[in-house]
Amino acid sequence: MTLPDTNRQIIFARRPNGVPTPDCFALVTTPIPSVGPAQALIRNDFLSVDPYIRMRMEEKDSYAPVMAIGETLVGRTVGQVVDSRIDGFAAGDWVVGRLGWQDYSAAKAADLQKIDLAAAPATAYLGALGSTGITAWVGLMTFGRPQAGETVLVSAASGAVGSVVGQLARLQGCRAVGIAGGASKCALVKDEFGFDDCIDYKSPTFVEDLARAVPEGVDVYFDNVGGPILDAVLPRLNNFARIPLCGLVSQYNATEPYGVKHLREVFNRRVTLRGFVLSDHKDLWPAATAALANAYGAGRLKYRETITDGLENAPQAFIDMLGGSNIGKQLVRLRAA
Ligand SMILES: NC(=O)c1ccc[n+]([C@@H]2O[C@H](COP(=O)([O-])OP(=O)(O)OC[C@H]3O[C@@H](n4cnc5c(N)ncnc54)[C@H](OP(=O)(O)O)[C@@H]3O)[C@@H](O)[C@H]2O)c1
Repeated sequence: MTLPDTNRQIIFARRPNGVPTPDCFALVTTPIPSVGPAQALIRNDFLSVDPYIRMRMEEKDSYAPVMAIGETLVGRTVGQVVDSRIDGFAAGDWVVGRLGWQDYSAAKAADLQKIDLAAAPATAYLGALGSTGITAWVGLMTFGRPQAGETVLVSAASGAVGSVVGQLARLQGCRAVGIAGGASKCALVKDEFGFDDCIDYKSPTFVEDLARAVPEGVDVYFDNVGGPILDAVLPRLNNFARIPLCGLVSQYNATEPYGVKHLREVFNRRVTLRGFVLSDHKDLWPAATAALANAYGAGRLKYRETITDGLENAPQAFIDMLGGSNIGKQLVRLRAA
């Protein structure tokens, strides 16, 4: 295969204040990475665009390292090996890895995982069958501990993680209720992902609608958003409810942190609120991967993708995703089919 002369990368150009703007990013051309000993060269086909990048753009204390100006944006990709000096990896193999916002990446075996396109399309390994689905499984099963008959409430329910959480909750025999932005997203959450109900947090009657949707209270609140939605949910929790706190996407662009008003409900109802980060739980990845693959193979796990074309459009896709433009997993196609 003939390689182009240059690689394209998106680098971090400026720290945002509030909502990121396109000038926070820059498209640069660099030489195609040289393949060192025990490395392979990967041509990336699809890029995963993830909310946590926004946290890394700020010089604030976080579980993830702060991004340096000039650094290539981090992100998982799927692609094909084009040259390999790794035993067991050959040109043409499909792989997934954290290879960054770029067309080509050089990587060692430990950073690559082979994927099976006979089992699922390549993009699924960035979404429901990849780290997105694993996040949903680890958070729900390990920290949510759902029991059949319980009510599981999920925010950002039409998004990548949230849509998987509700389906897993249903597979556990739970009642799954979503929270999403807008009537059409809520309809999709019910009709396509099979949630029992979904509440539009943008509606002026959100608090009353939420109370009506969970008449028996909430046993597990899988929180992807934090902020005012978390506040509205706290009074609806049952005694000994569990909150796997997966993320705070409503706060990532905020210049002032939201002050939670109903924290006393956590005490009153003896609630367990547990922040978790996927990378701390690598021991659970095999079990999660197997469970997700089984559910998908049995036709019991659906996923949606929002695909933006072109590496040069990745920054705008990221900005728009934080504002809720996506349904399911936000991806960028790096190479025309
Ligand atoms: N803990 C971990 O290891 C881990 C791993 C992966 C992801 N996460 C977290 O999981 C969450 C979901 O990630 P994802 O990749 O699945 O993204 P996603 O849900 O596919 O996309 C983000 C969604 O957030 C919603 N949103 C944006 N602003 C909001 C606001 N002010 N209030 C309520 N909802 C808002 C939007 O949906 P609406 O249109 O419904 O507003 C948007 O579609 C994020 O917080 C992310 O950081 C954590």
